[in-house]
Amino acid sequence: MFHPWPWRLLWLAVVVTHAQFTACVPGRYGRQCEHLCTCADYEECEDGPTGSGECSCMAGEEARCGLPSPPEGATAGVGLGTVDALVFQNLTLQALPLDPETARRSRQVFNASVSLTRPQPFRGSARLALLNPEVARRLGLAPELVDEAIFAELLSGKLPLPSTVQPFAHAYGGHQFGSWSGQLGDGRAMSLGHVLGFAPDQHIAEDSVRWWPWELSLKGAGKTPYSRGGDGRAALANAAREFFAPIFLESNGIPSCGTLAVLGSDAEEDRLARDEWYTGEMSLKKPGITLRAMPSFLRFGSAQLAAKRQGVPGLVRLARYALAVLARMESHDEASSYLERLRPLPDALRQQCFFGRAVSPSCAERASEATGQEVLRCLLERMVHRTSALVAAWMAVGFAHGVMNTDNLSLLGVTVDLNVYGFLSKYDPGWAPNHIDDTARYAFGAQPEIAKWNLERLSDALTGTPFLVDREPDATSWAEPGEWLDLKRAQRELQHFDELFERCYVVRMELRLGLLASGRPCGTDRGPGCVVKKWTTWLEQTGADYPRASRLLAELLAPSAARPPAESLRESFAEAVGANSTAGLEEFLQELQALRPDPDALRAAVPRLSLRSHVLMEAAKLVELKKQGSKVRDFLRALQQLLQHPFGEIEGIAAMSSVVDDPKAFWKGTDLTAEETEVDLRPSLQGRLHALPPESLKQLRTSCGAQ
Ligand SMILES: *[C@@H]1O[C@H](CO)[C@@H](O)[C@H](O)[C@H]1NC(C)=O
Ligand SMILES: *[C@@H]1O[C@H](CO)[C@@H](O)[C@H](O)[C@H]1NC(C)=O
Ligand SMILES: *[C@@H]1O[C@H](CO)[C@@H](O)[C@H](O)[C@H]1NC(C)=O
Ligand SMILES: *[C@@H]1O[C@H](CO)[C@@H](O)[C@H](O)[C@H]1NC(C)=O
Repeated sequence: MFHPWPWRLLWLAVVVTHAQFTACVPGRYGRQCEHLCTCADYEECEDGPTGSGECSCMAGEEARCGLPSPPEGATAGVGLGTVDALVFQNLTLQALPLDPETARRSRQVFNASVSLTRPQPFRGSARLALLNPEVARRLGLAPELVDEAIFAELLSGKLPLPSTVQPFAHAYGGHQFGSWSGQLGDGRAMSLGHVLGFAPDQHIAEDSVRWWPWELSLKGAGKTPYSRGGDGRAALANAAREFFAPIFLESNGIPSCGTLAVLGSDAEEDRLARDEWYTGEMSLKKPGITLRAMPSFLRFGSAQLAAKRQGVPGLVRLARYALAVLARMESHDEASSYLERLRPLPDALRQQCFFGRAVSPSCAERASEATGQEVLRCLLERMVHRTSALVAAWMAVGFAHGVMNTDNLSLLGVTVDLNVYGFLSKYDPGWAPNHIDDTARYAFGAQPEIAKWNLERLSDALTGTPFLVDREPDATSWAEPGEWLDLKRAQRELQHFDELFERCYVVRMELRLGLLASGRPCGTDRGPGCVVKKWTTWLEQTGADYPRASRLLAELLAPSAARPPAESLRESFAEAVGANSTAGLEEFLQELQALRPDPDALRAAVPRLSLRSHVLMEAAKLVELKKQGSKVRDFLRALQQLLQHPFGEIEGIAAMSSVVDDPKAFWKGTDLTAEETEVDLRPSLQGRLHALPPESLKQLRTSCGAQ
């Protein structure tokens, strides 16, 4: 039924990658090897730090060492290929303690960070519902060579995975809505290991060697030892949410877990019972599997659980691994496509706030040789830096994550777990997109404080401090005396958060106002931070639509930098962005214009459209359709492309004031007939992504129950 599987190639590639340690002759591969054992981060000193100074390339890093071509027969490791040419490595299993038990049964795991498991295939056949060509290329897949049936059957676990793939689930815990929940772990996700692909800023060419490891995870592929009572499955419609958000976040310069693809099953016998709104009423949903790729899926909660159950040695081991991954990330531009759009930034701001290549290497670079204490301190330092920059970026773009539990925050400072998130329409700091978040703990405006709270919980784990609201029997007894991170040093690291966050937030907002980046907060001298504050205050008081107002501001600035815009223009602006008043607008504009904003720079930094919740709902419905007509496919592809290239020109304010079509009329119900799917959906899509949504669709919420 399917093509024979050329796994030999893959096996060969992996063996060769492991075996090849070419010593680099001093000088031959650049200056990294010229001094006594000062190897670059992708090399190792042959005989330890005090050795002869010979460096050798680490497995998987051949391209950066300048090694010319991969070994014969291992063509799988170069350029782009088919799915059977994916090169897997078990880096996580090598780095972290492995649970000796291999059964799938739900259980508590005490002395390990990972447990082996394997996918449970759907009963029916799997189909490829969505594919992201950009992420595919990063992993070494040529999107046009992807055979949909083979791809779906293999990655849903129906075709046997090659023996080099050892699927595993991560163990982690977490503070959920403020209290410690004990062991959680990958209950509906599992990793297939790392795929050797291309670095985030690497230009991909036919002869590019693949070496950058991306951890590939399947969400919804069945039960793991951490599933507790769950079925390990995920709803297909929900997977669409996780698919589209990273595309938009990345085009805005925000590191995010990428989604390679979404698989689904249409078979009746695969349907999932879900209580979407926690009302006790079950509905049947189609299942989906989301294929996600990240440098590593470690979470704050990974360190928390390791601290509690493995003590200092296990915690330090995990921290060392996290820092090795971070060091690799820091030697590249993670937000390269957005950085290219911006006017040149000072190096320090580029590195700190835009995840740019490190100009001065951080402590992560030296972590492999550092003491345990220093490793723990460094992890906290890097997390304070990266998390503050990440949340500042979320705040500037109007993103609300929705569930910032410590098990849903990445230990690498990358956006992950994109399910109950939302992008602002109305500028409302109190808006919480998660349906069950009654107290608005994770409201848009609460994110910086919550991030800080989460970092404090991470710090508890690193310092061996009893956890807040911990009802486990060992709540106060787990932290035996030992080499935990010193409490005072931890507090010093945490103290940097406010300043780092504020600087990155102001910088991102300055760029969005067409100003040069300074990062000066609002102080006694009325710095740019005060203009930012005036702007968000006006938005909040008038209920303006954030994405639209941010972009159309350029039209207000254009008439003349010196003269304030005419009254009528301000009024039509307010109307076009859904603001109920112009009071305060004039004052803000005058202060802004005194700082000489550049409308073109503003347009380069602010997208013309946003990922609107009601459009996501439409996309989710389309993804569930068993037979997707060409028009539906066009729609989904167009949505992907618009989110990937959301900048482009827009017409004047007048042309922008139309209100979105009513999507209800569009869909006339939930199930589309074959003919309905042939309606051309594309022309109105762009409008729906940037026009003002009707009042009822401005603050949609999502439920975790639908997952
Ligand atoms: C990782 O893979 C290598 C080679 O493919 C294998 O020898 C090793 O046992 C694996 N490690 C673990 C922890 O499974
Ligand atoms: C826990 O794991 C570590 C390393 O993997 C091992 O040295 C230790 O003996 C284990 N402890 C227990 C109680 O199993
Ligand atoms: C947050 O993490 C928990 C525990 O792993 C998981 O069940 C949940 O689905 C995650 N939330 C989201 C929104 O992905
Ligand atoms: C304008 O909108 C804001 C935010 O939605 C609201 O708080 C305020 O009451 C509105 N004012 C008027 C006059 O409608």
